Amino acid sequence: MAKIYINETNQLSHINPELYGQFSEHLGRCIYEGLYVGEDSDIPNVNGMRTDVVNALKEIHVPVLRWPGGCFADEYHWKDGVGPKDRRKKMINTHWGGVVEDNSFGTHEYFELCRQLGCKTYINGNVGSGTVQEMSEWVEYMTFNGVSPMADLRTANGHREPWKVDIFGVGNESWGCGGNMRPTYYGDLYRRYQTYVRNYDQNAPIQKVACGPNVNDYEWTEKVLDTCFNPSPCHLHGFMDYLSLHYYTTPGPWEHKGSATEFSEEEWYCTLHKALYMEELVEKHGAIMDRYDPEKKIGLAVDEWGTWFDVEPGTNPGFLYQQNTMRDALVAAVTLNIFNQHSDRVKLACIAQMVNVLQSMILTDKEKMLRTPTYHVFHMYRSHQDADLVESRMEAVESEGGAMYEVPTLQQSVSLDQDGVLTLTVANLSLKKAYPVEVTFEKLTPASVDAYILTEEKDALNTFEEPDRVAEQSFDGVTVMEQGLKFTIPACAVVSLRIR
Ligand code: AHR
Repeated sequence: MAKIYINETNQLSHINPELYGQFSEHLGRCIYEGLYVGEDSDIPNVNGMRTDVVNALKEIHVPVLRWPGGCFADEYHWKDGVGPKDRRKKMINTHWGGVVEDNSFGTHEYFELCRQLGCKTYINGNVGSGTVQEMSEWVEYMTFNGVSPMADLRTANGHREPWKVDIFGVGNESWGCGGNMRPTYYGDLYRRYQTYVRNYDQNAPIQKVACGPNVNDYEWTEKVLDTCFNPSPCHLHGFMDYLSLHYYTTPGPWEHKGSATEFSEEEWYCTLHKALYMEELVEKHGAIMDRYDPEKKIGLAVDEWGTWFDVEPGTNPGFLYQQNTMRDALVAAVTLNIFNQHSDRVKLACIAQMVNVLQSMILTDKEKMLRTPTYHVFHMYRSHQDADLVESRMEAVESEGGAMYEVPTLQQSVSLDQDGVLTLTVANLSLKKAYPVEVTFEKLTPASVDAYILTEEKDALNTFEEPDRVAEQSFDGVTVMEQGLKFTIPACAVVSLRIR
């Protein structure tokens, strides 16, 4: 019997809704076809955005959407994507598949998509191949409310009111596709570029993201913070609000990451073992941040994470289209539990990517769409958003996966929302064993529980022919006791309990 002890009276940190953020890049069929089909499409749309996809995404309460990249951001020139569509410049998307980018989805379309989703905006600026002037003018175009060349251009292009930019990234992967820079050089560039990300609306300051490390590049974190974190009365957070971290889970080496759908038990444990590495990354980068910022004013923004497998056979290798199984669901479940558990430092996270690319929420095929197993985890976890993490401890947990890929079989996180409702999410990583679980509270006598479960074979997935094979179900196996609960979680499962 596994035991979960919950001290609901001890609230530890706030779980920013933005931990459940999404990422959409001009890559493969994420934007075009996946989200945006254009006003003239036969696929039902509102102002060009697919109605079916937007409606499905609204159900998971997308808190924030990062755009336009990724690597694409550092070769994106925003003026190509505004004005009459028939006059917008075409370019080759050299990073992703070598296809023609016609710029029909640009700044105005992005804000329209966020309006429809009801989410915050996170724009990633171009440091790698763009100028300070270009970045500064983009911010002016989007946010300045008055007479200025860029505000006038925005009005001429049909939008008189400024938009709200909640978050702005100054470069992406500047250690790699965003310019192959060294950390102190990037740090200096960051200081300069961010100066011109002006806050035109003092009541709605833009939060700035500095490009952080790739995986375990601790030197990058150290040197960028050393260069840029310089708190003073006029720069309360140094020069940044967030430092990013990118980490993808790949079972195999980069050249052969492994199939998304056909994998052995060993690859199952290997994948989850690697997903759990996120905890070490967050803790070690967090420890460096603690030295500069002990009050935790700046957040770690894990703004690219998720599984990265070989593309589906027969698809463009540059489109990064992969299927999504129960393995992806478990990766999402354990990663989101880690983010909740470290919500004192992790303040923003964006899974890569929202539709048709890498570990997606949604896959589309022309007019059809499906929700992936990962989507269902985001749905089951949505009540953690904006709640407070509470103390919890798992006891008597076994391990599986052998010496090489050892993983705990059970993993959890717990939060308490403003209405006094506790959300407990538990993942069972075991492929072999169901576990009876006994939950004990510090004081609470539960009155009622709403319980949901996602469970299937390890490689189960949804197809356009059978879109709901893997789907969240009501779970009626919970027994309420005096100061506790009991249930049995099947092997290869995610459970979410809402406890009143
Ligand atoms: O998400 C796909 C790519 O992965 C992004 O464009 C880049 O930032 C990262 O390397």
